Amino acid sequence: MAAPLLLSTYLLLLPLGQAALPVVINTWPFKNAAAAAWNTLQSGGSVLDAVEKGCALCEVEQCDGTVGYGGSPDETGETTLDAMIMNGDTMEVGAVANLRRIKNAIGVARAVMERTDQTMLVGESASVFAEDMGFIAEDLTTIKSTNIFSNWLKGNCQPNYRKNVVPDPSKSCGPYKPSVALKQSNRTRHANTNSHDTIGIIALDQDGHVAAGTSTNGLTHKVPGRVGDSPVIGAGAYADRSAGAAAATGDGDIMMCFLPSYLAVELMRAGADPSTACEAAISRIKRHYPQFFGAIICANTTGHYGAACNKAPTLSQFHYMVSTSETNTPVQKSVNCF
Ligand SMILES: *[C@@H]1O[C@H](CO)[C@@H](O)[C@H](O)[C@H]1NC(C)=O
Ligand SMILES: *[C@@H]1O[C@H](CO)[C@@H](O)[C@H](O)[C@H]1NC(C)=O
Repeated sequence: MAAPLLLSTYLLLLPLGQAALPVVINTWPFKNAAAAAWNTLQSGGSVLDAVEKGCALCEVEQCDGTVGYGGSPDETGETTLDAMIMNGDTMEVGAVANLRRIKNAIGVARAVMERTDQTMLVGESASVFAEDMGFIAEDLTTIKSTNIFSNWLKGNCQPNYRKNVVPDPSKSCGPYKPSVALKQSNRTRHANTNSHDTIGIIALDQDGHVAAGTSTNGLTHKVPGRVGDSPVIGAGAYADRSAGAAAATGDGDIMMCFLPSYLAVELMRAGADPSTACEAAISRIKRHYPQFFGAIICANTTGHYGAACNKAPTLSQFHYMVSTSETNTPVQKSVNCF
């Protein structure tokens, strides 16, 4: 009788958004990835291991088609991957962008960090590096991604992300050439606005170690070579053991211009509450792009956390996962977008 009573009293005393260390938080309700990250930490793994294992599970499970192989084919039908991992103790980062033919992008990102003195490798060369490090090269195309691609071709390559080119990209497939006149227009997001995007994970352990990471297959029908915010340091994620960590998700082409994860961590360093820091990072983008699709998660060094999202036609509430010792299992949290 006594134990459950104590537990419930304790939970009642625990305000929302307050967590004891350790804590693992990830974007979107990717429960299995959350459990993989949490269990890794609980079984003695480091915060880097937790972030890597969580992202890697999404790469295998293809988390809603937005992470890993077989999703988000580019204009040529190919799936390419972006990933990043950051050690908030040493401020080292490993990142890969436009990675081809390798499923385990977060693993390659970690290999960049641990087996080179570089920070980011891209494209074909990143794939060659991965193969040298023992990762298996395989086709990332699936029946599903082939279908997405062939339907897009049949629909005159709509939507696409070209502008100021001929033939008219809103009606025709390429190849495109630059048009004579440059027309001013706002960046818009045409495709899969209701998709769950990227996985971003932040992990803090009892001893104050902090890590963050992301993994994604980017934007469906992207221009080949396009890199989103996820592998960009301070955009997709950021971690600093003296301030906290953050990870962002959403319209990467817009969001990366504002380094929202870096901004949120700096605001927490200056004493902002994690929820306030998350909101401020969203507000900065909103000022320029009122309708952008995006969300961010934040945690400070004492394990307090928060999240924020921009209210958009396809996003009114953002769901994310939080794992702490109180529950010892991932719990889904929600925040209303503003
Ligand atoms: C861009 O969007 C803003 C806000 O929605 C609007 O005020 C502005 O007129 C738009 N500009 C163009 C060139 O469409
Ligand atoms: C983290 O945020 C909480 C909630 O605002 C605050 O009480 C706590 O002092 C913060 N921790 C640090 C180290 O700033």
